[in-house]
Amino acid sequence: MSADRTTGADFFALSNVSTSLEGRLILRDVTLSVPRGKATVIVGGSGAGKSVLLKHLIGLLRPDSGDVFVEGQDLVDLSERDLVPVRRRIGFVFQDGGLFDSKTVSENIAFPLREYGERDPERIALLVKDALGRVELAGDGEKLPASLSGGMKKRASLARAIVTKPECILFDEPTSGLDPILARNIIQLIKRLQRELQLTTVVVTHNLGAMKEIADKVVFLDSGAVRFSGTLPELESSADPVVKEFLAAGQQYNE
Ligand SMILES: Nc1ncnc2c1ncn2[C@@H]1O[C@H](COP(=O)(O)OP(=O)(O)OP(=O)(O)O)[C@@H](O)[C@H]1O
Ligand SMILES: [Mg+2]
Repeated sequence: MSADRTTGADFFALSNVSTSLEGRLILRDVTLSVPRGKATVIVGGSGAGKSVLLKHLIGLLRPDSGDVFVEGQDLVDLSERDLVPVRRRIGFVFQDGGLFDSKTVSENIAFPLREYGERDPERIALLVKDALGRVELAGDGEKLPASLSGGMKKRASLARAIVTKPECILFDEPTSGLDPILARNIIQLIKRLQRELQLTTVVVTHNLGAMKEIADKVVFLDSGAVRFSGTLPELESSADPVVKEFLAAGQQYNE
């Protein structure tokens, strides 16, 4: 079915993906596409399978059946070695930041550059400086993660994700654990980076305010299945009672 493959406009496409973990079906026949250069937001209840889905996009998890395409290339049967160049194109910002505690912020940000074979110290320093500036941590490169606030950690991990100049960034709950002002800052930052670098952006979030700010496209997962996929206005005018309840609860009790 060529319509499900990543063609011209899509960066990712999942086609009939089903995945079980520890004997339990987690993703149920998921078919969706992520447009290139746009922001796609994945929402859904806790345990719906959002993080599991995100991990499929870089081959950290593989489906039992179905296909995962990155620009038309199916990841499902690629070896770990063949996944390396694919992962290089995609930055991943983990929910907890995932920084190395024993390395300074600058060393953390330099890490993926070294991993990808960059050896020139001047070039590394230049790229790290540029990434620090983009997330407004210009003066904080020499600090250790333990001395950063939660919001600074998120920004440092964002800098680490963008330093290799990926075409796409995946964010798992970028605003969780942040106060409303920091959450707003990080949302503005994601939007700005997306626009400036024309990034394909995928954001998993519980935060409906963040969803409304960011989304060109929304995918709503319910018990591992795609319940809705479309634009924000389409989501907001959905007659589906499950979607309506999720939106109503989100208005009342947001992060
Ligand atoms: N490695 C794993 N092994 C076994 N089960 C897993 C694994 N990872 C996730 N699960 C299960 O898969 C389901 C979906 O988990 P997932 O982390 O994707 O949820 P989520 O939608 O991201 O939820 P939250 O909003 O709470 O982060 C859960 O029932 C979880 O227990
Ligand atoms: Mg999750």
